[in-house]
Amino acid sequence: MIIKPRGTSDILPKDSPVWQKIEETARDTARIYGYGEIRFPTFESTELFARGVGDTTDVVQKEMYTFNDKDGRSMTLRPEGTACVVRSVIENGLSGEAMPLKLYYFTSCFRYEKPAAGRYREFYQFGTELFGAETPASDAQVISLADTLLKRLNIVSELKINSIGCKGCRPKYREALVSYFKSYESDLCETCRGRLQTNPMRILDCKSPICRGIAENAPKVTDYLCPDCASHLENTKSLLDGMGIKYEVDPGIVRGLDYYTKTVFEFIAPIDRDSKTGEIKRLTICAGGRYDGLVEEIGGPRLPGIGFAAGMDRLVAALRFSGEDVPVGDTPLVYIAPLGDKAAAAAQKLVYDLRQKGVYAECDIVGRSLKSQMKYADKTGAGYTVIIGDNEIETGRAILKNMKTSEQDEVEINKLDIILSKEGR
Ligand code: HAM
Repeated sequence: MIIKPRGTSDILPKDSPVWQKIEETARDTARIYGYGEIRFPTFESTELFARGVGDTTDVVQKEMYTFNDKDGRSMTLRPEGTACVVRSVIENGLSGEAMPLKLYYFTSCFRYEKPAAGRYREFYQFGTELFGAETPASDAQVISLADTLLKRLNIVSELKINSIGCKGCRPKYREALVSYFKSYESDLCETCRGRLQTNPMRILDCKSPICRGIAENAPKVTDYLCPDCASHLENTKSLLDGMGIKYEVDPGIVRGLDYYTKTVFEFIAPIDRDSKTGEIKRLTICAGGRYDGLVEEIGGPRLPGIGFAAGMDRLVAALRFSGEDVPVGDTPLVYIAPLGDKAAAAAQKLVYDLRQKGVYAECDIVGRSLKSQMKYADKTGAGYTVIIGDNEIETGRAILKNMKTSEQDEVEINKLDIILSKEGR
């Protein structure tokens, strides 16, 4: 048997309604915040992610699905969406449009990670990116978009925010990190020993437990912010206070991608309970931040940006875990059961006509006996059934049975759609 690759999932029809609900809510939330949808390729030049995400990040160093195409060009399955959006904004000249430019997307992402609950090798994101505004007001609006989405989904989460400074304050912080980690150099993993020279901030989000332990007492970025970054954070906080959005400042939030500057944030929510220990597993369901240098880094003009991505798989898990009623699939409004060959053709036509009028109708196409058709209709959850035989075809009238109440009415067959819509379904 051929099975799916590790860390990927099949989303089956029984699970799709909850995905659709989240997608519809996300789409509508993007709409009320004035965002337009953008779609981009599944694979891009490897260089885009090496430059955009950063070649000292875990994502680029360890997790990318990279291959040479038949012309020998190095391509990578997108591990995230922001670099792709930025590439598209530059390539399509969107930076010349009225600012702010507000874009949203649904995308699958590919990262070669160790699969676990809520961590997959192919996963889905709903992402938003806002360009052309550098103000704390734009930070507050982006965070409020994520907050609105989660509230509309009734997902209770905790918001953590931080500032990781700008080009101006980074060098001092970098120095402090290097001198701290130097004294633990021999204990760090091999990758982090390399990062000590190239990008010491990345040691802070290394997944190795030893590096994590060492990083716990590392200098905090908030102690090294320049006056501009510090006041940006304070102003963002007071705008969030004004909107009544609760948050905690957590200097430990540094994010695993290199493009971030100033404000970064994460929403964390319970998604699962360990069946053995009973312990509740909490994960970041939505995360993002400001990236004022990324557009230039990828070869575009100076254009500040800020955005976030919510992990769709994790939103689904959080919604299920919250105990909220999750939507289930639609059921047929009516099942037409024919009796005999002549009636079978008439049932096909009737179902076709009902569907033309937007009614979810079904009839037999398997060749079942009347008894097993009725059993099947019950199984599908059909609201009504209509049995059609020679007599019904001749008189144009049939019995409409309400499957819940078992009430029966004689009705005109060609008025079924009107009668059914009057039933309020
Ligand atoms: P990220 O933190 O790498 O940021 O991913 C965003 C979200 O995607 C995470 O918070 C999580 O919910 C979900 N996610 C990440 N990795 C996995 C995985 N292996 N399995 C399941 N879900 C996962 C970004 O991707 C940035 N592009 C976000 C952004 C947009 N920043 C600015 N604009």
